[in-house]
Amino acid sequence: MAIISSKKQPHEPSGGQPKQHRESAKASLKENILQPEAATDEQGKQEESIRPQRFADYIGQKDLKDVLDIAIKAAKSRGEVLDHLLLYGPPGLGKTTMAMILAAEMGVNYKITSAPALERPRDIVGLLVNLQPGDVLFIDEIHRLSRMTEEILYPAMEDYRLDISIGKGSSARTRSIPLSKFTLVGATTRVGALTSPLRDRFGLVQKLRFYEVEELSQIVLRSAQLLNTTITEDGAKEIAKRARGTPRVANRLLKRVRDYAEVKSFAKICATVAAEALHLFQVDPCGLDWTDRRMLTVIIEQFNGGPVGLETIAAATGEDTQTIEEVYEPYLMQIGYLSRTPRGRVATAAAYKHMGFQPPNEQLSLL
Ligand code: ADE
Repeated sequence: MAIISSKKQPHEPSGGQPKQHRESAKASLKENILQPEAATDEQGKQEESIRPQRFADYIGQKDLKDVLDIAIKAAKSRGEVLDHLLLYGPPGLGKTTMAMILAAEMGVNYKITSAPALERPRDIVGLLVNLQPGDVLFIDEIHRLSRMTEEILYPAMEDYRLDISIGKGSSARTRSIPLSKFTLVGATTRVGALTSPLRDRFGLVQKLRFYEVEELSQIVLRSAQLLNTTITEDGAKEIAKRARGTPRVANRLLKRVRDYAEVKSFAKICATVAAEALHLFQVDPCGLDWTDRRMLTVIIEQFNGGPVGLETIAAATGEDTQTIEEVYEPYLMQIGYLSRTPRGRVATAAAYKHMGFQPPNEQLSLL
């Protein structure tokens, strides 16, 4: 495996928020085991040991697996490379894993990088000229590519060709270098931020969706077995319910519960042990963290349930608008606690109930 870079750019909190909220939000982030983004210590050997390697081990995302299975079989039978693939969806749902599995199923090598690591044109050129026939090149956060890098990618994706300018001014000439045929897998949490010329060059554009509790329970059971941890089905379900529809969160919660069970000398993780441990880590029974709860409380208490603008929510929680839009809101909308309207965000009656408030009549109509 060649990992060129998998570094994430930390999100900067936006300025101008009340100090007290900014500090609480920072404290919650530091300890936050519910963040779907990979932590720096989550790219080690143990993570690799529980990552599914083939479609047969990969639980969930059935529609996506079916589409890719057909594409792989068709490409293999024609002896061609797989079409370029764009994967989008919230963080932590398995976009990188899917790219690795694609390469394994096609029987080719893969290289992993991310847009922030491709700052200079020579970064992408170096990668492209070293690709072997059929290789999978995975670019994470592809919406963040620079314009120059993107323009180098266009002929590379379309005609497996690198166009290089030699010389300057009136004597400048373009030379084309042939590249090996390859598959580009791009991943993004913000498909709308991709330029259309780039988006149009992907033959397959596929969304990853949040996982069902049943699927996450299966993932927890599988990971527990690989980590040599004894867990009951109910114990796995208790963890799955709080994992925000995200396998990365489920596996992280499993590890924290495993620590708790070991320290307290419980022979196995049952539902009671899992619930006790997750209560200790302040993980809400629905998987909500401090920022989710603060968002809902602000909308309900200060704005009568909304509508309220994104900037206002960002100021009240100490989060930046991008993190709220890409990380917090998708899950709150998925579980039916928040809706986005043209005039702003609205807390639903279900959110009122969860937060212990009496829903007013207008919110009941959203149930
Ligand atoms: N670990 C993380 N994601 C997984 C998945 N989708 N299936 C099985 N194990 C996983």
